[in-house]
Amino acid sequence: MERMNTPTTATPLNVTEIRKDFPIFTHQNGKALYFLDSAASSQKPLSVLQAMDNYYSTTHANVHRGVYQIAEHATELYEGARVKIGRFIGAPNPARETIFTKNATESINLLSTCLTRGRLKKGDVVVLTEMEHHANLVPWLIAKEQFGIELRYIKVDSEGYLALDNIDEILSGAKVLSVTLASNVLGTLPPVAHLAELAHKHGAIVIGDGAQFVPHMVTDVTDLGLDFLAFTGHKMLGPTGIGVLWGKSELLEALPPFMGGGDMITDVTLDGFTPNELPWKFEAGTPPIAEAIGLGAAVDYLQDLGMQNIREHEIKLLSYAFERLESNFGKNIVIHGPRNIQDRGGVISFDFRDIHPHDISQILDQSGVCVRAGHHCAKPLMRHLGIAATARASFHIYNEPADVDALVDALGKAQAFFG
Ligand code: ALA
Repeated sequence: MERMNTPTTATPLNVTEIRKDFPIFTHQNGKALYFLDSAASSQKPLSVLQAMDNYYSTTHANVHRGVYQIAEHATELYEGARVKIGRFIGAPNPARETIFTKNATESINLLSTCLTRGRLKKGDVVVLTEMEHHANLVPWLIAKEQFGIELRYIKVDSEGYLALDNIDEILSGAKVLSVTLASNVLGTLPPVAHLAELAHKHGAIVIGDGAQFVPHMVTDVTDLGLDFLAFTGHKMLGPTGIGVLWGKSELLEALPPFMGGGDMITDVTLDGFTPNELPWKFEAGTPPIAEAIGLGAAVDYLQDLGMQNIREHEIKLLSYAFERLESNFGKNIVIHGPRNIQDRGGVISFDFRDIHPHDISQILDQSGVCVRAGHHCAKPLMRHLGIAATARASFHIYNEPADVDALVDALGKAQAFFG
């Protein structure tokens, strides 16, 4: 694989070499695998698998507990991964502000729970958008039901952008703005830095759902104007079972703990407890140690390629896919979301004639083309679009024009099959 530091100008990815690093592409017994479902979960390079395997094979012990050699080494690896991952998103204080969770969903649940326990009052307004994944909707709906917060929504316009005409009215008096950094259905990249500036003027804190953004873009929490950022490991070449919540130290310090148990205390009596320092205050129980180490290796891999190069690669693939899909299928295909490629991440959700997305997905599978079909855990957005489901192709570093060609060919077969 070509190795490089993040350059100032984009360098094309060497996809042929990259694919050699991903065992799944060489374990198909000669059968083609056109994997276009990285928005659901990405594939994993050997370096990530090896980092986890090495830890289990040579160093496994619990962290923060033992004072023997391998336990101390395990702690070093775990805490080292934390710092690396925090730096990857530009965290000003990565060792204290980067909290390991199970996934982005848990990170947002942590926030909705701790904010309602420790910061928000009944009737306080939380602003969301109509394009949120359920992970950034349902925790707040639970808080509405159980605690009595009020929810307001930024609508989606006919082109798949956020409708910001009345944004000041929506943000007026709000205490929280929680917004996706990249829609998992439309691809839309909301103007988060601008929204954060406005929200802060109105006195709201800003939470970013970075599940579909952090794996694909240069991420800097300060440039984005965020107070909290949630993301997950398994969409960014890392393992499942590990997510991250980043937050500003002073905000995290002011929140009560999330779950109770080991590691999140400095003292316990039969009458009470003293919470631990950051970040352990939010990490109850034995943490996902191997997964954190694996995610650290994934971050190394992404950084070696360069996040700007990855973004440029996906822009090229998106342009090629739009051109091929629309020139081949014309009005028979409807691609949702912004027309301007620069305004979208690497997902293409589409309707294909009147064929159900599940049928599309099954037919594509016969040609080795993997796409997701369904509501993509964004039911309110689906209702806004007036549909129940879409098919969705999504890209990562191992995709190449041949994947798009395979998608187009397989859709041609579906068209022929349905007549
Ligand atoms: N949130 C993931 C997706 O959009 C699972 O597919």
